[in-house]
Amino acid sequence: MGDNVDAGAQDLRINADRLAARLDALGAVGAIPGGGVCRLALTAEDRAGRDRVIGWMRELGLAVTIDAIGNVVGVRRGLESGPPVMAGSHIDTVRTGGRYDGNFGVLAGLEVIQTLNDANITTRRPLAVAFFTNEEGARFNPDMMGSLVYVGGLPLEEALATVGIDGESVGDCLKKIGYNGAAPCGNPQVHAYVELHIEQGPVLDLEGFTIGAVEGVQGISWTEFTVLGVSNHAGTTPMRLRHDAGYVACAIAHHAREIARSLGGDQVATVGAITLSPNLVNVIANRAVFTVDLRNTDEAVLQDVERRMHAFAGEIAAAEGVTLSHRTLARFEPVAFDPHVVNLVEATARRLGHSVRRLPSGAGHDAQMLARVCPAGMIFVPSVGGISHNVKEFTALPDLEDGANVLLHTLLTLAN
Ligand code: GLV
Ligand code: MN
Ligand code: MN
Repeated sequence: MGDNVDAGAQDLRINADRLAARLDALGAVGAIPGGGVCRLALTAEDRAGRDRVIGWMRELGLAVTIDAIGNVVGVRRGLESGPPVMAGSHIDTVRTGGRYDGNFGVLAGLEVIQTLNDANITTRRPLAVAFFTNEEGARFNPDMMGSLVYVGGLPLEEALATVGIDGESVGDCLKKIGYNGAAPCGNPQVHAYVELHIEQGPVLDLEGFTIGAVEGVQGISWTEFTVLGVSNHAGTTPMRLRHDAGYVACAIAHHAREIARSLGGDQVATVGAITLSPNLVNVIANRAVFTVDLRNTDEAVLQDVERRMHAFAGEIAAAEGVTLSHRTLARFEPVAFDPHVVNLVEATARRLGHSVRRLPSGAGHDAQMLARVCPAGMIFVPSVGGISHNVKEFTALPDLEDGANVLLHTLLTLAN
């Protein structure tokens, strides 16, 4: 590799066709009808996706390590040793996922590496490309689990013991797919972290911006409620004598949405999973288990919404004569990214001739965990129609290309 860190680097651009080819190849692993992907964390499909990405990492000359929670880091040597400048994201998906969420950031990182390899450029600091285990939290809670363990925010043993929606534990599944690595977690040495990601919301697309300089991530509150009532005959039981778990679940779901609607602004509320038992047309449900996802950029407001939701849940459960319990599946406060990195992303995008807008992230990201241990930031590109966690998720190739070029030059600045 060459030893001049700056010669010709200003004009360097990634190869969009190569990036698109890798997105196609990874998108074929766990492909589902409609153009989407199902690669839930630590499944056989996840293993196949991991194997493919690691194969590319090795072809590109990266030194690959796998840690005890299955995070994968590929490092490219710099002129100096020391903590790398890291690009990363995740390759697990929700069950009905698109091809870009997470995958784009990882594959754009590899494209940056290949671009530098081809140009014979060695950066001063090492560069790394990482993908973190179970970012989605769709199978195991909490989301961002791998990056949280990576930064020491969750004990490894606790994460390994986590049981997912299908009754299997993280530890068992990691072993089953052969990704229980040897590298330690909890004290990473990273100079800076940059995550390129699709926006997954409508702002850039609606307002016609190419690049988002992400200022932070909103707070996330996930709660699972269990309601226990009494099953009885749907036709014979008078309304006043019911202890209907299904009704109470729906009332809480409705109330959460009403709180969000009445607050407006950044408050969102979602009941995305609900299970009724025995789940029959003519039987009053004796059991309801459901989740509430609340998010806000303002921690004080988020706490107030949680308080109001729990107060209502207690009242409606008492009125219906059912018992109610809950557990927290995930709780992360809002995170502000490092102003230096946010400014750098914005300035780099402008220098490359792109329109750029600052915005918060509505989705959770590994970058919010890395922000605990190093300066971190994110680059967004538009999501057509703001659609994500849906097989129709789409970002046009020119936008992917522009985002990857912003990543390239942001990493170059941080690494030199
Ligand atoms: C995870 O990616 C989430 O924001 O739900
Ligand atoms: Mn993601
Ligand atoms: Mn996602």
